[in-house]
Amino acid sequence: MSDTSTLLREFLRAPLRIGAVAPSSRRLAVAVTTPIPELGDPVVVELGPGTGAFTSAIQELLGGRGHHLAVEINPRLADTLRGRFSGVDVINADASKLPQLIAERGHGKADVIVSGLPWASFPRGIQQETLLAVSQTLKREGAFTTFGYVHAIRLAPALRFRRMLGVTFEEVVTGRTVWGNLPPALVYHGRRPRVIAPLRAPAPSRRTDRECSCSAGVLSAGR
Ligand SMILES: C[S@@+](CC[C@H](N)C(=O)[O-])C[C@H]1O[C@@H](n2cnc3c(N)ncnc32)[C@H](O)[C@@H]1O
Repeated sequence: MSDTSTLLREFLRAPLRIGAVAPSSRRLAVAVTTPIPELGDPVVVELGPGTGAFTSAIQELLGGRGHHLAVEINPRLADTLRGRFSGVDVINADASKLPQLIAERGHGKADVIVSGLPWASFPRGIQQETLLAVSQTLKREGAFTTFGYVHAIRLAPALRFRRMLGVTFEEVVTGRTVWGNLPPALVYHGRRPRVIAPLRAPAPSRRTDRECSCSAGVLSAGR
């Protein structure tokens, strides 16, 4: 089965969680992986690898250096990735558990986090929890990249996510539109994560659109 058919099948099973009917293009993969350093042994975390469009680009850039962790919530997609990428530590888990997942593997913090997550399909609570996990896992001098679809950029969840990026990072740079993706996409680069401490234990269930328990409402970015 091709990657496109696989993703389409999974989309039909869980549209909001998959958030796309086709894998990202090579051009988008190149744009989101630019922060990966050419030298050294970086810890690179990939969130929502799906069928591996960004995974192969990251593996090529690393060329056997460093560590590449890929966190995929869908067990079928995670299994397929494991079979395809022997050099990647594929973890079948929820990206919001990232601090715990990376600590269990003894890696310290990440140098680069590349996200393929469908942020605009997520309710507020999941956006907050997952961005908090990113900010807690990324090194101060590290880089976070993610993307959004141009046609959806003015929809409320996408605008909310963009505002949350602005409170999570000291600097957010929007890259040029990647027209060579279907649909066209924008890449966001977040740098210098702010320190955001949870005040109390997370809510028992993350399936509802509830507020995240973040200090001073830092991640309560409007509607
Ligand atoms: C739009 S697909 C992107 C796949 C690939 N990165 C690409 O660009 O072609 C989103 C992926 O994120 C995964 N995902 C959604 N929510 C997740 C979560 N909370 N934790 C980890 N993976 C998640 C989905 O299962 C799906 O594989």
